[in-house]
Amino acid sequence: MDTKKKIIRKVSVAPMMDCTDRHDRFFLRLMSKNVMLYSEMVATKSAIHGDRKKILSYSPEEKPLALQVGGSDKNELAEVAKIAEDMGYDEININLGCPSKKVQKNKFGACLMKEPELVAECINSMVNACKIPVTAKTRIGFDNTEEFDYLNSFILKMRDAGTKTFILHARKAMLSGLSPKQNLNIPKLNYDMVYNIKKENPNLEIIINGGITKVSEINNHLKFCDGVMIGRSIYQNPYFLIEIEKEIFQTLNNPSREQVAEKLLEYLDKEVKLGTKVNHIMRHTVGLYHGQIGSKDWKRYLSDNMMARDSDFQKAKHIMKIVQNNEKANQAST
Ligand SMILES: Cc1cc2nc3c(=O)[nH]c(=O)nc-3n(C[C@H](O)[C@H](O)[C@H](O)COP(=O)(O)O)c2cc1C
Repeated sequence: MDTKKKIIRKVSVAPMMDCTDRHDRFFLRLMSKNVMLYSEMVATKSAIHGDRKKILSYSPEEKPLALQVGGSDKNELAEVAKIAEDMGYDEININLGCPSKKVQKNKFGACLMKEPELVAECINSMVNACKIPVTAKTRIGFDNTEEFDYLNSFILKMRDAGTKTFILHARKAMLSGLSPKQNLNIPKLNYDMVYNIKKENPNLEIIINGGITKVSEINNHLKFCDGVMIGRSIYQNPYFLIEIEKEIFQTLNNPSREQVAEKLLEYLDKEVKLGTKVNHIMRHTVGLYHGQIGSKDWKRYLSDNMMARDSDFQKAKHIMKIVQNNEKANQAST
């Protein structure tokens, strides 16, 4: 019997280091109740030995929420899976797609695609340690290996170890010669590879990731895959989530940018009292006015006022007033 809880992963926001921290996730949740959210990658050792409250805590509003972990020690991974479950995370996801040098040195991320047996052992020990779903996020290949048979057999090994959900970033990782940023752009997207994996394994949940920027693209991918995961285009333009809510989830009565800002202000108020710095929250809002009149002023205002270490709450309130005026100006001009 399958004891794992069912999660809807039609659209998810990708895990992104230095971006999808708890404040960003709270902000994103103000715009979407239906997307699945992922944490930034947390190394097993940090989760086990670090300041757990600081690294792993979250607001209940962020749920459903997955913890993404990086590691290759099966005992540590099992321990983190249990910690994730105990802390109320809805899913634990293993990172098999990050190609950075530092990550490779610690033997996690994309370099583990070369070691399917080890990955299967790790997944198995995580599956046995917790009742929440254990999922994997991987690339479609690495270096000179971009073959359906290799990827499919890697996925089948992980399936046999207990994973049913795979997030496939539809480009290979180059383990040397490219920076992490280049590795997100230079290897060509190969969506067909992902579609073919789903076709071959209809019982597995296959989520496609990489370069998705429009609702029409989401709809097209959903014809071939179970879900889409979107990273940069949501971080850069968070209000894209409202379009996703409207068009993909048929949600009515979505909040305006002004309403989102107001709710964030309430959160900011609480967080500042707990010692959070204003800029730690506000930096995620740089793209709130993406494509709108006044978006440049908004960005300039944020960078002039919010990134300073002494940013205070009054400044945030002042900025919010500017946002609200911008919103009114936008509405008047349309
Ligand atoms: C700033 C940044 C940080 C990232 N950090 C992570 C991470 O911690 N874990 C991970 O699996 N992928 C990470 N990624 C990759 C994204 O999750 C995603 O796979 C990639 O950006 C492709 O999706 P997109 O084209 O929709 O952005 C990161 C990407 C960016 C741009």
